[in-house]
Amino acid sequence: MRGALRPLPVTTGTTPLSVVVLISGGGTNLQALIDTAPRRGFRIAGVISNRPAVKGLARAAAAGIATRVVDHTAHPDRAGFDAALAAAIDAFAPDLVVLAGFMRILTPAFVDRYRGRMINIHPSLLPAFQGLHTHRRALEAGVAEHGASVHFVTAELDGGPVIAQARVAVEADDDEDRLAARVLAREHVLLPQVVEWFALGRLAMRDGRVWFDGTAIAQPLPC
Ligand code: GRF
Repeated sequence: MRGALRPLPVTTGTTPLSVVVLISGGGTNLQALIDTAPRRGFRIAGVISNRPAVKGLARAAAAGIATRVVDHTAHPDRAGFDAALAAAIDAFAPDLVVLAGFMRILTPAFVDRYRGRMINIHPSLLPAFQGLHTHRRALEAGVAEHGASVHFVTAELDGGPVIAQARVAVEADDDEDRLAARVLAREHVLLPQVVEWFALGRLAMRDGRVWFDGTAIAQPLPC
């Protein structure tokens, strides 16, 4: 199954990149995208949540953005949910799908449909701390640096090629909440920056690698 997404524009300017954002909750990263979209050359065509009545949906509605709920509890299996989600996404015909706090595991067929056109933000310096409770696990591991990553989505959970990272020093008196808050503040800069690079046609995934300005990058881009 191949996606119905339009090819990415090489450069934009007059036609902003069209983005669909997938959320599951509060949507502070969504808010950062809403606030920066006009100056970063993209527009949010729609916001889709797998949970009804979350704050992120209210944020989108307040900004005049179309919202949809595709409730995973209404679908007996992952394939059925993913098919409904793909239909909701494709109705917006976006150039890029952004997972911003979207807390569902996706089927390989779904991921393949949006290959090279779907990114996720994850609150750790991947490949460290894939999965949940990243801040707690970073503190338990005693790392000196923590942070956030934006990566292309592949079938491997939190395992796709990393585009960019924001690094945060861990302080001696950090607890989970303090560390999470500092990382989240950096996420709000990191994610719009990566979407802007997309909008400018500077980013691509090829051969399982990230290409930036026509060159395969050896390290995630700093942000
Ligand atoms: C962020 O930390 C994001 O990295 C993770 O979930 C959190 C979502 O926060 N995937 P918000 O909903 O954007 O406020």
